[in-house]
Amino acid sequence: MTDILEPASATPEALRERIATELLAARARTAALTDCVDDHDLAAQHSPLMSPLVWDLAHIGNQEELWLLRNVGGRDPMHPEIDPLYDAFEHPRSERPSLPLLPPVEARAYAHEVRGRVLDLLAGTPLEGPEPLLQGGFAFGLIAQHEQQHDETMLITHQLRQGPAALVAPPPPPHQELLPAEVLVPAGPFTMGTDTEPWALDNERPAHLVDLPGYWLDTTPVSNGAYQAFIADGGYREPRWWTTEGWAHRCAAGLRAPLFWVEDGGQWLRRRFGTVEPVPADEPVLHVSWYEADAYARWAGRRLPTEAEWEKAARHDPASGRSRRYPWGDEAPGPELANLGQRHLQPAPVGSYPAGQSPYGARQLMGDVWEWTASDFRPYPDFRAWPYREYSEVFFGPEYKVLRGGCFAVAPVACRGTFRNWDYPVRRQIFAGFRTARSADTA
Ligand code: AVJ
Ligand code: FE
Repeated sequence: MTDILEPASATPEALRERIATELLAARARTAALTDCVDDHDLAAQHSPLMSPLVWDLAHIGNQEELWLLRNVGGRDPMHPEIDPLYDAFEHPRSERPSLPLLPPVEARAYAHEVRGRVLDLLAGTPLEGPEPLLQGGFAFGLIAQHEQQHDETMLITHQLRQGPAALVAPPPPPHQELLPAEVLVPAGPFTMGTDTEPWALDNERPAHLVDLPGYWLDTTPVSNGAYQAFIADGGYREPRWWTTEGWAHRCAAGLRAPLFWVEDGGQWLRRRFGTVEPVPADEPVLHVSWYEADAYARWAGRRLPTEAEWEKAARHDPASGRSRRYPWGDEAPGPELANLGQRHLQPAPVGSYPAGQSPYGARQLMGDVWEWTASDFRPYPDFRAWPYREYSEVFFGPEYKVLRGGCFAVAPVACRGTFRNWDYPVRRQIFAGFRTARSADTA
């Protein structure tokens, strides 16, 4: 784990070192995800939802070249002819395998060459001064996060890929503990979003006060065992638990269990990174769409929490009245606090990480599984797109739902209490689960 250094208050030397460490960590992860399969596998498309891994690899290098070498460093493009190939808005994922992409050897060499020049740039660039892209090392933080976000995307591709697992990691430690099913978050205002987190992205800004009525929130994410009770009770056969849109989708897509689950003689099995095994009852449920999460919550007599409810439970410290970076405080997410960073390639049992719980007693808000919220992806009041509209702004609107908290595949640098992720409500390949809530004024 890197030291806890607040980029804004760190000395320029410490900040440079932190940036170099984060860039190195991201590249080590990228290498692990792309060196474990052969060139054919790297260039293949494993699902129409995903790019070939070799696209992610060169796109990582291309974004790094664009933001750091060109925009910060003022250098000329290295290979302008390849830019359109790696612009995510020019070609949807389904088209990418038919593009004249750099073959694996060249993609690796390109990313490597960019990185060498970036480290030279870092050594010679003042990280203070008027340039807003450089404040607190932001552009470098953006690029470290971007690479780690694609490392999560590539792990999703590995999960969709057929055949034996190419990646292995130790499982998280077992954990069993009897906990109250839900925790109470009393009514009152809290600060949502941030003005001070130096590497926060535009959609996390600005900080603003939100006043919420009291609510009860599940202590942990919903488990496979609880979700199986919903299935066994006919949850997928009862339109009354589903929204109109959700039921239409459930019928059209023939949904009857989470993605990667198969029924075998009355028992549920699931495929994870090439291994088929019985579904463990005590793990958070994964690979459900927003529509399934929403139907489960209604069946349970509950609802999904709003994004604000999720963030208050994760950040508000009732003792100080302050919103913090993480459920446990401001300290960086060490291995005893949260399941992040692909240290394990699966979520930990529900109730794990007692040291990482929030002041209200909610567990596993950070890491393990992304959590669907009830909320559409919208800008905060006084939102300003920065440094480019295509990171967040073009996605705002009712067609995307917000997910919070990161998952086992997310690196600490790309995860904090303010971080917002979003996806279509039909998506199931992402590492998403959920927890449920109810308003405190209901019985
Ligand atoms: C924030 C995860 C929705 O993967 O589409 C990567 C992150 N943006 N490259 C995505 C991102 C540009 C983004 N998500
Ligand atoms: Fe990207």
